[in-house]
Amino acid sequence: MKNITVIGSGLIGRSWSMVFASGGYNVRIFDNQPGQAANAIREIRKQMEELEGARMLRGELSASQQTALLSSHDDLAQALEGAFFVQECVFEQLEVKQKVFQDIERLVGKDVILSSSTSCLVPSAVFSKVQNKSRCLVSHPVNPPYYVRLVELVPHPETTPTVMDTTHALMTKVGQAPVRLRREIDGFALNRVQAAIIAESWRLVQNGIISVKDIDLVMSEGLGMRYAFIGPMETIHLNAPEGLEDYMKRYGEGLKRVLASFGPVPDFCGEGSRSIAKEMCELIPNDRQHLTARIQRRDQLLMALSKLKKEH
Ligand SMILES: NC(=O)c1ccc[n+]([C@@H]2O[C@H](COP(=O)([O-])OP(=O)(O)OC[C@H]3O[C@@H](n4cnc5c(N)ncnc54)[C@H](O)[C@@H]3O)[C@@H](O)[C@H]2O)c1
Ligand SMILES: *[C@@H]1O[C@H](CO)[C@@H](O)[C@H](O)[C@H]1NC(C)=O
Repeated sequence: MKNITVIGSGLIGRSWSMVFASGGYNVRIFDNQPGQAANAIREIRKQMEELEGARMLRGELSASQQTALLSSHDDLAQALEGAFFVQECVFEQLEVKQKVFQDIERLVGKDVILSSSTSCLVPSAVFSKVQNKSRCLVSHPVNPPYYVRLVELVPHPETTPTVMDTTHALMTKVGQAPVRLRREIDGFALNRVQAAIIAESWRLVQNGIISVKDIDLVMSEGLGMRYAFIGPMETIHLNAPEGLEDYMKRYGEGLKRVLASFGPVPDFCGEGSRSIAKEMCELIPNDRQHLTARIQRRDQLLMALSKLKKEH
């Protein structure tokens, strides 16, 4: 149980490789673009050295020890040698993923776990061409996985509990924060909650109730302050003298009244969306330079926050 294979070496494949190497696993990276996996390792080495310099490298091993665990392969069979766990990170296209898993299954032993990084496809679709679906699941990371540790484990209807347990233990061992869904659902948990937040924020701006800048402050200076440490359930549990049930006795009716006043699913593309985009671009212009600067700021803040979370 020492080798993990990562299939696809783009943004997410590289991040997973870093996370698994930080846990001391040999990571065998495959990409169907020749030379791409080797490129990924060069890029990872650079990142790990920077992280080490900033004292933010994860795991017990040094950057050079961790990069020594990585190998790149342009041949799928070779990449899968000795692996007990395969994390797929190819393009988000159903046919591509189905074909990749079909190919992988022919090359691995019957106990090897097949895991997909898909954000938007349910396991029953992704694994429809795999013979033995009991060893398949989705392990959905959040970008960037190196700082945002959540992983949603989503079973196929046929996935065995042992496969969920082994993956949960692996994710915990490499320092991620796994959660289990009991069955598959479109959007999983994170993207469903995120969709609700986006939709109501969009409606409030579109209906002229609040500005783009201020709705973002509602999250970053308000709800988000708590949500980095406690979720919505603990939040309500702590917000009434006798906990969750007491909260609902006091505020349940008000909550239902507000929810009943929510508008329909917004049209995210029409005339209204242009004015929201314009307002956003006045705050942060949508050229590469401005966006890259904000992405760097976001990742630096996430790094600092993950440090704070580790201490508490
Ligand atoms: N980017 C995110 O924010 C994010 C977050 C969570 C999950 N994901 C999921 O992770 C997966 C990968 O996303 P990404 O952002 O890293 O994409 P990406 O485009 O950066 O990387 C995809 C890589 O897969 C390789 N590839 C494509 N087809 C292949 C094949 N048949 N065999 C081997 N390699 C192949 C490509 O050459 C490329 O290097 C997607 O399913 C995506 O939904 C992405
Ligand atoms: C199917 O996969 C499970 C879980 O890895 C394994 O225990 C079982 O032996 C496999 N069955 C066959 C027929 O290969």
